[in-house]
Amino acid sequence: MHGDRATHAAGHAAGAGGGPPTWRPETLAVTAGRDESPGGPLNVPPTFASTFRDGDTVRYGRWDNPTWRALEDALGGLEGGAAVAFSCGQAATAAVLATLEPGTTVVHPADAYLGTRQALASRAARGWLGVRPVDVTDTAAVLDALEAADGPACLWLESPTNPTLGIADLPALLEAAERRGAVSVVDNTFATPLVQRPLAWGASVVVHSATKYLGGHSDLLLGMAVTADPDRHAALVAHRTEDGAIPGVMEAFLALRGLRTLPVRVQRQQETAATLAARLEEHPAVQRVRYPGLPSHPQHDRARAQMQGFGAVISFEVDGAGRADRVVAAVRLAVPTTSLGGVETTIERRARWAGDAHVAPGLLRLSVGLEHPEDLWADLSAALDRALEVPDRP
Ligand SMILES: Cc1ncc(COP(=O)(O)O)c(C=O)c1O
Repeated sequence: MHGDRATHAAGHAAGAGGGPPTWRPETLAVTAGRDESPGGPLNVPPTFASTFRDGDTVRYGRWDNPTWRALEDALGGLEGGAAVAFSCGQAATAAVLATLEPGTTVVHPADAYLGTRQALASRAARGWLGVRPVDVTDTAAVLDALEAADGPACLWLESPTNPTLGIADLPALLEAAERRGAVSVVDNTFATPLVQRPLAWGASVVVHSATKYLGGHSDLLLGMAVTADPDRHAALVAHRTEDGAIPGVMEAFLALRGLRTLPVRVQRQQETAATLAARLEEHPAVQRVRYPGLPSHPQHDRARAQMQGFGAVISFEVDGAGRADRVVAAVRLAVPTTSLGGVETTIERRARWAGDAHVAPGLLRLSVGLEHPEDLWADLSAALDRALEVPDRP
């Protein structure tokens, strides 16, 4: 078993299955992670097996699975490293945290995904890790926090952040982390490897909630961690085996099926997001639009310099929780729900969650899907018009 896993890890680290490095992401998304044996199925099928007959090696379903490998090869190729699949994004985050030295200080976005902040806070409360929340859009503040950390350090980044869509200077911060000898992690869920590839800037690990864009159809939960460091890859695989947060086989199959169309989905979703963001900025009910592609975004120039596009999540603010709730109640096409990154547009008032009480009460997070942009705008602008008709009560 150990020999089998080690070979798998080494193969990943060498880029096996990722295709020639000259292939573009659109080509990799379609071609990587296939079984090319003559007469074999075009797509790696779901292998439903808790165990495998003894052969050269002993194999068990918690250690490895051909369907996981296909997905891992495809995402590894896109991110430029070796991927490990987990049961969900939180499990990938937990695995990365588990591989940090005890007592590590984690510098993280004050505005990170609330589940990530909760995972960090509960470990800090047990004394396993230290935490330093910072505004990751403020490069000097991040560097100061890294400098101030005693002992082992980890820089945990999200860019764009969830839900206020702040942009961190990833190349500069990842280089600083490397100089400091800190482990660096980038949650690339919002951007996807089509928009930015943090491993190329020196990130130690990239994590994903593959539940979102990678899967892309709101029908599965899955997480991924990707690294270019073979030892770190082996540690993540060992953690998955020990703690058992393994992906379901069907989920891995569906996620790879979703990944095949990631480039076309992201391209179209970004185009529609840009259209909606510009129109939202002009609507009288909207006080502020946060979208990195808008010149009004405080880190627009940074986003232009380091991203290949601006993602497809828009956060916009209306005047107060009541008005925001009325917008959510009035939309007919956008789905009122949590989560994001699917083919369908979703909308949510984030401050409804206690963990996101720091954001403006009227902030709405819109995950733009694949519907026609004019239908989406007709729906959204009608809901905003209606919200304006009712005067706000205190
Ligand atoms: C940025 C980000 N990272 C991680 C997660 C956790 O992923 P999962 O829900 O798949 O566990 C989420 C979930 O919303 C997220 O938005």
